[in-house]
Order: sequence, then C-alpha cells, then structure tokens
Amino acid sequence: LVSGPLKGKHIIVTSGPTHEPIDPVRYIANRSSGAQGTAIARALAALGAEVTFITGPAEVDPPVGMAVRRVNTANEMLAAVTSALPADAAVFAAAVADWRVASASDSKIKKDGSGALPVLEFAENPDILATVSKMKKDRPNLVVGFAAETDDVIAHATAKLERKGCDWIVANDVSPETGIMGGAENAVTVISADGADNWPRMTKAAVSERLAAKIAEALS
Ligand code: C5P
Repeated sequence: LVSGPLKGKHIIVTSGPTHEPIDPVRYIANRSSGAQGTAIARALAALGAEVTFITGPAEVDPPVGMAVRRVNTANEMLAAVTSALPADAAVFAAAVADWRVASASDSKIKKDGSGALPVLEFAENPDILATVSKMKKDRPNLVVGFAAETDDVIAHATAKLERKGCDWIVANDVSPETGIMGGAENAVTVISADGADNWPRMTKAAVSERLAAKIAEALS
C-alpha cells in the first residue's frame, strides 16, 4: 500500500470517450485517447489515493492497481459515478458525448437501395460533472472539470465553472495547431474562484503530477 498525502482519500476519475449506439454496429463518439485521465489517475494513486477509475472505450490501457469500471455510454458513466460515491474528490476528464441517439435501433440499419437517407433523432445526455457538482448529499469536497476549448479559453472555461458548479476547471486549447489532442503534452490553465493559473506547456504526466499535488493540498 502506498502512503502519501492522499492516503485514506477516495477519488473518482472519469476518462476516455463515451460511445453512443446508433444500431448494434455503429456509434457516435467524441475524440479522446484517455491519455490525460489515465495519467491523472496514476498520479493520484502515486500520492496514496484510493482511485475509482471510470472509463469509456479509450485507446490507452487503464492504469493498474486501482478499481476500474468500464462503461460505454454517458448514462452508464453517470450510473458508475453515482455508485462509486461517496468520494473526497472527483476529477471528470472524460469526453462525454453531449447527445445520444434517442432510440437506437436493435438491428443494423440497412441501405434499402432507394437512396433514402436515415434520419437520426438525438436526446440530450446527462451532464455528469454538473449533476455531481449540484448534489446536495454526497457531493465530493472537491469537484474538478475539464474544458477543451478552441478559442477564448479562459472566458469560456470561467463561464463553464459557474454553469456547472464545480470547484476547478482545467482548461486547455485543443486547436489542431497545438497538437495537444492525442499528443504527449498539454498546456493548461487551472481556473477556480481564486482566478486563473497558467501552467507552462509540459507532458501530460507532468500536468497530472502537478494537479495531483494541488488536489492533495486542497484536501489536506
Ligand atoms: O461542457 P463540456 O463538455 O465542454 O464540459 C467538459 C467537462 O464536463 C469535462 O470535465 C467533462 O468530463 C464534463 N462532462 C460531463 N458530462 C457531460 C459532458 C461533459 O461530465 N455530459
């Protein structure tokens, strides 16, 4: 067992994309490798935290040495988070699909040869971060969200902090020219009620270590 500043603390981490079925062979999803969420879970565990890692179908393997719950859809992810509560902190690094197909087909949708196109109707998925942030009972002491933005990063992320009701937003610029999406490095701004803290560009592992240390300080 690892000792460290987070010993005895239970922390939930969500990671990866969600897959929302269209029919048994097709889905819609967000682009997310799961690299940042996995690195955060590892860094928290290295400081002694008991981590519950809840992941959608990610490209990277989940970390070892912790409870891993695998889910596909946003609704399944919310259910897994809810059943993992209570927790001292929760870090929502998953790229959850905002919409699901309202009624996924039980059988494969076929081309019928007439050239008619399928029409998909969407339904809104639950916002897991906002749901947990607004819980009256069982709200973790520290709720951390992420914001992947392509413009006006700080303004959009600050609005998101208020709208979702979380304590911190870790904001990053995912414009294609940054190479951050799917890459090894990240440059983040951590936004809280105290203001915006710009961190220099560093590896996703280094961002995770610094974030884990900041979480340990906040929970101590
Ligand atoms: O609103 P947006 O998707 O940009 O917010 C991103 C943050 O909200 C991330 O922390 C993400 O994990 C979380 N989120 C969520 N459930 C959703 C959508 C986003 O937990 N349905």
